[in-house]
Amino acid sequence: MTEARTLWLTGLSGAGKSTIAVALKERFEAAGRMSAVLDGDAVRTGLCADLGFSPEARSENIRRVAHVCKLFNDAGLTVIVAMISPYMDDRRNAQIVIGASRFVEVHIATTLEVCERRDPKGLYSKARAGLIPQFTGITAPYEAPATPSCQLDTAVTSVSECVAILYALAGTSEPTSS
Ligand code: ADX
Repeated sequence: MTEARTLWLTGLSGAGKSTIAVALKERFEAAGRMSAVLDGDAVRTGLCADLGFSPEARSENIRRVAHVCKLFNDAGLTVIVAMISPYMDDRRNAQIVIGASRFVEVHIATTLEVCERRDPKGLYSKARAGLIPQFTGITAPYEAPATPSCQLDTAVTSVSECVAILYALAGTSEPTSS
Protein backbone atom coordinates (compact mmCIF):
# COMPACT_ATOMS: atom_id res chain seq x y z
CA MET A 1 0.00 0.00 0.00
CA THR A 2 1.54 3.29 -1.11
CA GLU A 3 0.94 6.22 1.23
CA ALA A 4 -0.32 9.51 -0.16
CA ARG A 5 2.55 11.62 -1.46
CA THR A 6 3.37 15.25 -2.03
CA LEU A 7 4.72 16.05 -5.48
CA TRP A 8 6.69 19.20 -4.84
CA LEU A 9 7.19 21.16 -8.09
CA THR A 10 9.95 23.73 -7.75
CA GLY A 11 11.24 26.02 -10.47
CA LEU A 12 11.34 29.55 -11.82
CA SER A 13 8.27 31.69 -12.39
CA GLY A 14 6.95 30.80 -15.84
CA ALA A 15 8.60 27.37 -15.84
CA GLY A 16 5.25 25.59 -16.17
CA LYS A 17 4.66 24.42 -12.59
CA SER A 18 1.04 25.56 -12.32
CA THR A 19 0.10 24.30 -15.77
CA ILE A 20 1.50 20.86 -15.00
CA ALA A 21 -0.08 20.84 -11.53
CA VAL A 22 -3.57 21.55 -12.89
CA ALA A 23 -3.21 18.99 -15.69
CA LEU A 24 -1.94 16.40 -13.22
CA LYS A 25 -4.89 17.04 -10.92
CA GLU A 26 -7.21 16.46 -13.89
CA ARG A 27 -5.38 13.20 -14.63
CA PHE A 28 -5.98 12.05 -11.05
CA GLU A 29 -9.65 13.05 -11.31
CA ALA A 30 -10.02 11.04 -14.50
CA ALA A 31 -8.74 8.02 -12.57
CA GLY A 32 -11.18 8.69 -9.71
CA ARG A 33 -8.49 9.89 -7.33
CA MET A 34 -8.69 12.95 -5.14
CA SER A 35 -5.76 15.36 -5.10
CA ALA A 36 -5.14 18.95 -4.07
CA VAL A 37 -3.06 21.64 -5.76
CA LEU A 38 -1.23 24.16 -3.59
CA ASP A 39 -0.10 26.93 -5.92
CA GLY A 40 2.12 29.78 -4.77
CA ASP A 41 -0.01 32.50 -6.33
CA ALA A 42 -3.19 31.07 -4.75
CA VAL A 43 -1.62 30.36 -1.36
CA ARG A 44 -0.41 33.94 -1.25
CA THR A 45 -3.94 35.30 -1.57
CA GLY A 46 -4.99 33.74 1.75
CA LEU A 47 -2.94 31.45 3.95
CA CYS A 48 0.24 33.40 3.19
CA ALA A 49 -1.20 36.80 2.23
CA ASP A 50 0.88 38.46 4.94
CA LEU A 51 4.18 37.32 3.39
CA GLY A 52 6.49 39.03 0.90
CA PHE A 53 9.49 37.73 -0.99
CA SER A 54 12.43 38.22 1.37
CA PRO A 55 14.32 34.98 2.11
CA GLU A 56 12.66 34.86 5.55
CA ALA A 57 9.16 35.38 4.12
CA ARG A 58 9.71 32.69 1.49
CA SER A 59 10.89 30.29 4.22
CA GLU A 60 7.73 30.94 6.20
CA ASN A 61 5.64 30.50 3.04
CA ILE A 62 7.21 27.09 2.42
CA ARG A 63 6.94 26.09 6.09
CA ARG A 64 3.19 26.74 6.21
CA VAL A 65 2.53 24.96 2.96
CA ALA A 66 4.62 21.98 4.07
CA HIS A 67 2.44 21.61 7.15
CA VAL A 68 -0.70 21.72 5.00
CA CYS A 69 0.84 19.01 2.79
CA LYS A 70 1.48 16.87 5.86
CA LEU A 71 -2.10 17.22 7.05
CA PHE A 72 -3.49 16.40 3.61
CA ASN A 73 -1.16 13.41 3.18
CA ASP A 74 -2.15 12.16 6.65
CA ALA A 75 -5.76 12.28 5.42
CA GLY A 76 -4.81 10.18 2.39
CA LEU A 77 -4.87 12.99 -0.14
CA THR A 78 -2.20 13.34 -2.81
CA VAL A 79 -0.83 16.89 -2.94
CA ILE A 80 0.70 18.74 -5.86
CA VAL A 81 2.69 21.81 -4.85
CA ALA A 82 3.55 24.46 -7.44
CA MET A 83 5.84 26.96 -5.77
CA ILE A 84 9.13 28.53 -6.76
CA SER A 85 10.59 27.46 -3.37
CA PRO A 86 14.00 28.75 -4.42
CA TYR A 87 16.05 27.78 -1.37
CA MET A 88 17.44 24.30 -0.81
CA ASP A 89 17.19 24.60 2.96
CA ASP A 90 13.49 25.44 2.80
CA ARG A 91 12.79 22.44 0.57
CA ARG A 92 14.85 20.24 2.89
CA ASN A 93 12.78 21.44 5.84
CA ALA A 94 9.59 20.77 3.89
CA GLN A 95 10.82 17.25 3.26
CA ILE A 96 11.38 16.79 7.02
CA VAL A 97 7.88 18.08 7.85
CA ILE A 98 6.14 16.00 5.17
CA GLY A 99 8.31 12.91 5.59
CA ALA A 100 11.06 11.63 3.32
CA SER A 101 8.97 8.71 2.04
CA ARG A 102 6.16 11.04 0.95
CA PHE A 103 8.09 14.03 -0.38
CA VAL A 104 8.79 13.81 -4.11
CA GLU A 105 10.94 16.68 -5.31
CA VAL A 106 10.33 17.60 -8.95
CA HIS A 107 12.46 20.24 -10.62
CA ILE A 108 10.62 22.02 -13.42
CA ALA A 109 13.93 22.97 -14.96
CA THR A 110 12.81 25.25 -17.77
CA THR A 111 15.65 27.71 -18.29
CA LEU A 112 15.56 31.34 -17.22
CA GLU A 113 15.98 32.32 -20.87
CA VAL A 114 12.80 30.45 -21.84
CA CYS A 115 10.83 31.64 -18.78
CA GLU A 116 11.80 35.21 -19.48
CA ARG A 117 10.85 34.90 -23.13
CA ARG A 118 7.44 33.49 -22.14
CA ASP A 119 6.94 36.06 -19.38
CA PRO A 120 3.24 35.09 -19.03
CA LYS A 121 2.52 37.64 -16.30
CA GLY A 122 4.87 40.36 -17.55
CA LEU A 123 6.84 40.09 -14.32
CA TYR A 124 10.28 39.53 -15.83
CA SER A 125 10.12 42.74 -17.80
CA LYS A 126 8.98 44.59 -14.69
CA ALA A 127 11.79 42.99 -12.67
CA ARG A 128 14.34 43.98 -15.36
CA ALA A 129 12.97 47.52 -15.18
CA GLY A 130 13.60 47.50 -11.43
CA LEU A 131 9.89 47.58 -10.56
CA ILE A 132 9.85 44.27 -8.65
CA PRO A 133 12.57 43.81 -6.04
CA GLN A 134 14.01 40.40 -5.17
CA PHE A 135 12.61 38.72 -8.26
CA THR A 136 13.71 35.10 -8.53
CA GLY A 137 16.22 34.54 -11.32
CA ILE A 138 16.83 38.26 -11.82
CA THR A 139 17.63 39.86 -8.47
CA ALA A 140 17.07 36.91 -6.14
CA PRO A 141 18.63 33.45 -6.33
CA TYR A 142 17.18 30.14 -7.42
CA GLU A 143 18.96 27.14 -5.95
CA ALA A 144 18.26 24.16 -8.19
CA PRO A 145 17.76 20.77 -6.51
CA ALA A 146 20.94 18.68 -6.54
CA THR A 147 19.18 15.31 -6.61
CA PRO A 148 15.50 15.73 -7.51
CA SER A 149 13.33 12.65 -8.01
CA CYS A 150 12.55 14.04 -11.42
CA GLN A 151 13.67 16.91 -13.67
CA LEU A 152 11.46 18.19 -16.46
CA ASP A 153 12.03 21.02 -18.91
CA THR A 154 8.77 22.20 -20.46
CA ALA A 155 10.65 23.58 -23.47
CA VAL A 156 11.56 19.98 -24.31
CA THR A 157 8.85 17.84 -22.69
CA SER A 158 5.17 18.45 -23.37
CA VAL A 159 2.70 19.01 -20.54
CA SER A 160 0.99 15.68 -21.27
CA GLU A 161 4.34 13.86 -21.14
CA CYS A 162 5.18 15.61 -17.85
CA VAL A 163 1.81 14.55 -16.46
CA ALA A 164 2.35 10.91 -17.45
CA ILE A 165 5.78 10.86 -15.78
CA LEU A 166 4.53 12.50 -12.57
CA TYR A 167 1.40 10.35 -12.43
CA ALA A 168 3.66 7.31 -12.30
CA LEU A 169 5.79 8.90 -9.57
CA ALA A 170 2.74 9.60 -7.40
CA GLY A 171 2.19 5.94 -6.54
CA THR A 172 -0.92 3.93 -7.21
CA SER A 173 -2.63 2.75 -4.06
CA GLU A 174 -4.15 5.76 -2.38
CA PRO A 175 -7.83 5.80 -1.55
CA THR A 176 -10.06 6.75 -4.46
CA SER A 177 -12.84 9.30 -4.38
CA SER A 178 -15.50 6.64 -4.94
S1 ADX B 1 8.23 31.38 -3.22
O1 ADX B 1 9.53 31.85 -3.65
O2 ADX B 1 7.83 31.90 -1.90
O3 ADX B 1 8.09 29.89 -3.30
P1 ADX B 1 5.70 31.49 -4.61
O4 ADX B 1 5.74 30.29 -5.45
O5 ADX B 1 4.90 31.44 -3.33
O6 ADX B 1 7.21 31.97 -4.30
O7 ADX B 1 5.11 32.73 -5.44
C1 ADX B 1 5.68 33.01 -6.70
C2 ADX B 1 4.76 33.91 -7.51
O8 ADX B 1 4.67 35.18 -6.90
C3 ADX B 1 5.33 34.14 -8.90
O9 ADX B 1 4.84 33.19 -9.82
C4 ADX B 1 4.87 35.53 -9.22
O10 ADX B 1 3.57 35.49 -9.81
C5 ADX B 1 4.73 36.20 -7.88
N1 ADX B 1 5.84 37.11 -7.48
C6 ADX B 1 5.66 38.39 -7.08
N2 ADX B 1 6.83 38.93 -6.69
C7 ADX B 1 7.78 37.97 -6.86
C8 ADX B 1 9.20 37.93 -6.62
N3 ADX B 1 9.85 38.97 -6.13
N4 ADX B 1 9.87 36.78 -6.90
C9 ADX B 1 9.20 35.72 -7.38
N5 ADX B 1 7.87 35.68 -7.63
C10 ADX B 1 7.16 36.80 -7.36
